[in-house]
Amino acid sequence: MATERVSIHGQWSNRLAFVLAATGSAVGLGNVWKFPYITGENGGGAFVLVYLLCIAVIGIPIMMAEVMLGRRGRQSPVNTMRTLAAEEKLSSHWQWLGWGGMLAGFLILSYYSVIAGWALAYVFRTGSGLFTGLTADGVQSIFSNLVDEPERLMAWHTIFMVMTMTVVSRGVRGGLETATRVLMPALFVLLLVLDGYAWNSGAFKQGVEFLLWPDFSRLSANGVLIAMGHAFFTLSLGMGAIMVYGSYLPDNASIAKASIAVSVMDTVVALLAGLAIFPLVFANGLEPASGPGLIFRTLPIAFGHMDGGAFFGMLFFVLLVFAAWTSAISLIEPAVAWLVENHGLSRIHASVVAGVVTWLFGLLTVFSFNIWSDVKLLSWIPIFHDHTVFDLLDYLTANIMLPLGGLLIAVFAAWCMPRDSSVDELAMGDGFSYRLWRFLVRYITPVAVMIVFLNVIGII
Ligand code: PHE
Repeated sequence: MATERVSIHGQWSNRLAFVLAATGSAVGLGNVWKFPYITGENGGGAFVLVYLLCIAVIGIPIMMAEVMLGRRGRQSPVNTMRTLAAEEKLSSHWQWLGWGGMLAGFLILSYYSVIAGWALAYVFRTGSGLFTGLTADGVQSIFSNLVDEPERLMAWHTIFMVMTMTVVSRGVRGGLETATRVLMPALFVLLLVLDGYAWNSGAFKQGVEFLLWPDFSRLSANGVLIAMGHAFFTLSLGMGAIMVYGSYLPDNASIAKASIAVSVMDTVVALLAGLAIFPLVFANGLEPASGPGLIFRTLPIAFGHMDGGAFFGMLFFVLLVFAAWTSAISLIEPAVAWLVENHGLSRIHASVVAGVVTWLFGLLTVFSFNIWSDVKLLSWIPIFHDHTVFDLLDYLTANIMLPLGGLLIAVFAAWCMPRDSSVDELAMGDGFSYRLWRFLVRYITPVAVMIVFLNVIGII
């Protein structure tokens, strides 16, 4: 008894289109920029292990739950939650899950766009051969020059937000379905090329060891939370991006297979990025824990020394921008869909409204790297001791809002929604796979998220 609802925003052409779009959402700066730098800051292998575990036992099941809710509700997350709650005679407060997600998406995009702006800037810096022959010091000073200047960051941030608004305003099928099909495999191949370079860098073994050898003495309780938060972040979970993409999924497509495919691809890209970066970090005597600039300080060294480096470097950053672009549109889609549904705006109008507000808020991040780099609002709390406004935004969204969103999605999908409804919507029968899914979502996700939260606060 699948519901008769159809989305007013259209539908993907088929399951493959959904997988591509969801992969486009999942694979982004999270894999290539964030994963390496937070792995560097949190001691390497043990952190990676916790992250992988979270992907498998929390990420994949929650992705299935989110797609399932989206497809059943067929609206923006706010309205999907409201409709589904009404249908199951539950409190209308469940719509707050949609609101929280929309807010998280907006906050994330506000800084995501600034970092994507760095990648845009690097398209030109690498392409012009600026890095040719430079040492780590030279590469470092080029990075500092970029982030030290607010006007420059603002300009790149503006360009990226305009790119995002342009695509979102064209609707769910506008062009990007095809773009993802070509660009994602290209990014993958380029990462392999970089892995090849790292292999010959002289420190491959050390890099791999750092990435994969678990040394638990280097992992703190906060590190575990960051690993879990990143599993949500990298799979785009807990804020409605995947839910809204699920709402455009045709009725007959298998949710389980699609979710697994997306998660595996996402994880492989992150590991390939880590393998390219850490050998370079060690070969050049750099510090793995050097923060958000990590890939911008390491990869250009490789591009500056390899044959055709200017070309490959440019191509790499072009692909990274595309990966960020396909993620950015999913961050803003829940808000745009809601503006269209509830305020009768056209898609173009809705995209501009959402985009401009996000752009403005993004200035906080722009200034975090220069004129406000000394502003540490929560420095009295030990784990936030040296967190800038950007760091706090990132922490609040990825490590608190997304896991909390995921927890509530789990509670709704596996505790509140009747079993029959989820059997019906997932359409995978009610054999072992279904039971495993339900068990993970019912018990493992809520308990894991609670334990990790309480552990960081210091209660357990
Ligand atoms: N998953 C994206 C990335 O890894 C970021 C993102 C988070 C996108 C949440 C949508 C929702 O870059």
